[in-house]
Amino acid sequence: MLVHGITANVTYDFAVSVRAGLTKPGQKELPSMYLYDDVGSALFEVICHLPEYGLTRADERVLRRNASDIVERMTGPVAVAELGSGSGKKTRWLLEAFCRRQRTSYYPIEISPSALAICERELRDIDAISILGFEREYLDGLLEAAAHRRVGQRLLVLFLGSTIGNFDRPAGNEFLASIRRIMQQGDALLLGTDLEKSDAALIRAYDDELGVTAAFNLNLLARINRELGANFDLQQFEHVATINHEARSVEMHLRSKRRQTVNISLAELVVEFRPGETIWTESSHKYKAKEIFQIAGDAGFRCEAQWIDEQWPFAENLLIAE
Ligand code: TRP
Repeated sequence: MLVHGITANVTYDFAVSVRAGLTKPGQKELPSMYLYDDVGSALFEVICHLPEYGLTRADERVLRRNASDIVERMTGPVAVAELGSGSGKKTRWLLEAFCRRQRTSYYPIEISPSALAICERELRDIDAISILGFEREYLDGLLEAAAHRRVGQRLLVLFLGSTIGNFDRPAGNEFLASIRRIMQQGDALLLGTDLEKSDAALIRAYDDELGVTAAFNLNLLARINRELGANFDLQQFEHVATINHEARSVEMHLRSKRRQTVNISLAELVVEFRPGETIWTESSHKYKAKEIFQIAGDAGFRCEAQWIDEQWPFAENLLIAE
């Protein structure tokens, strides 16, 4: 019964968001959170293996190389909470290093139930680990995870993969401040940030040759068809990635190839598209290594350490709550 209640609400929230985003005056948009259903999460895993998308491998390399340094900086018992754990693969090195020292709690927070199940399966063989997953949005999940910490345990929050870059800059700062409010002084946030790189490298990373990123983006329309009874013709939309120099971001859009009308029955909506009109689905902001210190300070943290990958400009930042 409860399960049905939750499912109904998820569909309702999705319908409300789709309606709001597609009726917005000017640029139409869809919230990127909805890219990650079972199909989308699986496609994103494939993106992480593409040669053009060096971000995940850079994140993993820096974590692996510096796991013992990170662990040594966090003395005493630790509870690790991860925002958007995905498959949990790149978190293994860090958790193994903590668990070699003492029993460690791990709280993956994930909106995709299939990704959460994969993550729990991937990491449960680590000795001295206790895993408790939360199928929640980030801040709701973090509140619950923080409520489970035991007295004397320090909280380490992982926010990897440069997901912070999917917020625009003011919203990203506000999000970090919200994380800080859930933490106690001395707790830590390990923040992954993708750094600025050439336009060509960025376009390759977000519009790959095989078309996996295109499929990932188009799956959002397929999901609206599946879950909200819509009739998007996927052949009539295309994935585009463009650089926004002013925002220092890559923007992902879905572009209508012609004039068309789409009916989304559960959102009680009929939408018109002009030829060339786009739906904005996601932006990925890029950073300068130095600006992270300022961003951390504004949100109530001190950036204690920063590690940068040599092959793919990417920084892992250890922020301590002040
Ligand atoms: N956090 C990832 C990033 O900004 C998400 C991502 C990768 C993404 N490729 C994408 C989101 C394509 C939408 C479309 O790199």
